[in-house]
Order: sequence, then structure tokens, then C-alpha cells
Amino acid sequence: MSLAHDLESLAIDIAREAGELARVRRDAGVAIAATKSALADIVTEADREVEALIRARLAAERPDDGFLGEESGAERGTSDVTWVVDPIDGTVNYAYGIPTYAVSIAAVSGEPTPGEWQALAGVVHSPVGGEVFHAARGEGAWLGASRIAVNAEVGPAGALLATGFGYDPATRPGDLDLIGRVMPELARDLRRGGAASLDLAYVAAGRLDGYFERGLAPWDHAAGALLVTEAGGRFGRAEPDGSPRAPLIVAATPAIFDRLAAAAGLN
Ligand code: IPD
Repeated sequence: MSLAHDLESLAIDIAREAGELARVRRDAGVAIAATKSALADIVTEADREVEALIRARLAAERPDDGFLGEESGAERGTSDVTWVVDPIDGTVNYAYGIPTYAVSIAAVSGEPTPGEWQALAGVVHSPVGGEVFHAARGEGAWLGASRIAVNAEVGPAGALLATGFGYDPATRPGDLDLIGRVMPELARDLRRGGAASLDLAYVAAGRLDGYFERGLAPWDHAAGALLVTEAGGRFGRAEPDGSPRAPLIVAATPAIFDRLAAAAGLN
């Protein structure tokens, strides 16, 4: 078995355990613990508890690896592997009782910076849907035991796309401008699911034709990007304003990637 496969198996086990904790805590009621970058950017007690569980399980199994998590920060390891973790992606959905949230766990090698790392394994788990999307580098993308693939083509009605919005109100006009460029060019319709990792998993599974967003954090896309590429799709990330805090992400079936990237201004 390859290292990537071993990392994938471990991530699946931990994501299931973490997802169960998130689901149980949600059923018991959610407490907002703090706001972060903006008033709309919240963290719940469950986000922290689930990340602590993931971090502890990883430290026990792979003590030499690094860690980069949404809630508890970064720690360099002594091995070449870093775990990039969003314990609950879709926190606002979670807080409102909308079931579209996910545990996202990726293992990357190299410098733990998007654009520089090489993703080895990725898992996106929807606890409410009971779905586990997973991939190991070079071994394809899977939903449970079934292989998944991006859509081979897009019909004449246009592409079903998804997007999202960052928490900073100052970025909203730019987000709307982006939608204004993309939609007339190639969309049949647009979704805003509220969990970027699931948007990417859905592109991988052919439930969406493409996805674009400004301002994602590394843990929002680390696992999902590998799902997309292992499912035969394309993933692009650029920093149009030279700001690593506001990257533009585009992921899609190859049938529309170039058009979507051009409309979004990726190049
Ligand atoms: C957010 C979600 C959302 C996206 C935001 C992300 P979080 O992550 O993925 O869909 O639009 O940009 O910050 O805060 O729920 O982990």
C-alpha cells in the first residue's frame, strides 16, 4: 500500500469519528463560542471540540506530522506531511441547523502553503448525509466504495455552478461582480451551498459542473481540490490582487474549465 493510501484510510476513520461528534453536538444544540474575522464569521464550541479530537487522533497515530487547522492554528512537523483540517466546514449552516456542513481533512506534502504543497490524500465527510468523499493521489476519487468522476460534458442549457461569499462585507461588491461576469457567460443556474469542501466534492461527483469563489482559506479547499483532480476535473488557484488572503478558486469539469476560468479572471 502507498503512503497516500494509508493517509487516506486514516483520514476516513478520523473524519467519521469527528463527524459523529459534530452531529451529536448539533443535536444537543449549538453554542456560538466567538466571532472571528467579521461578525458573520463565527466559531462554535463544536468546531473547537471537533478540531481537538482530530488533532489528538492524528498526533497519536502520526506524531511527526505537521498540522494546519482552522480553529487551533499551525504547527510544523518533522516529517514531510502536514494535515490541513476544517473540523466543520459550513459553520454558519451548522449553527442554523442546515445539514450542509462537512468535516474536511487533507494530508499534504512539501511546504504547507496552497500552491506549493502536493496533496496526498483528502476526505470530505457530510455527517448528516452520511457521505464520505475520499481520494488518494493517483488512485482516483471515491464516494464510499463507488468511483466518482466529473461530468464529461455540459448540456446546451449551460453549466450548473456553485459559488460562495467570504465573511468580509467589503468583498461583497467584488463577489457580485464576479457572478455578473460568470453567469451570463456559461451558467444554467447557480448554487450557494455554504460549505466549500462539499461544493468541490460535488464537482468531483458530477453533481455540479463547476465552482468558483474568492477568499477561501487553505482548509476550505485542501481536500476538495484533490477530489476534483482525482475525479478528472481541473482546479485552479490564483491571487489576482497579490493577496494570499483573497485567492480566486476555480474548479470544474475540463469541458468548461477554460471558459469558467477566463470569465472569473483566473488567468
Ligand atoms: C466557509 C464555507 C463557505 C465559504 C466561506 C468559507 P467555514 O467555511 O466553506 O461555503 O463560502 O468562504 O469560509 O467558515 O464554514 O469553515
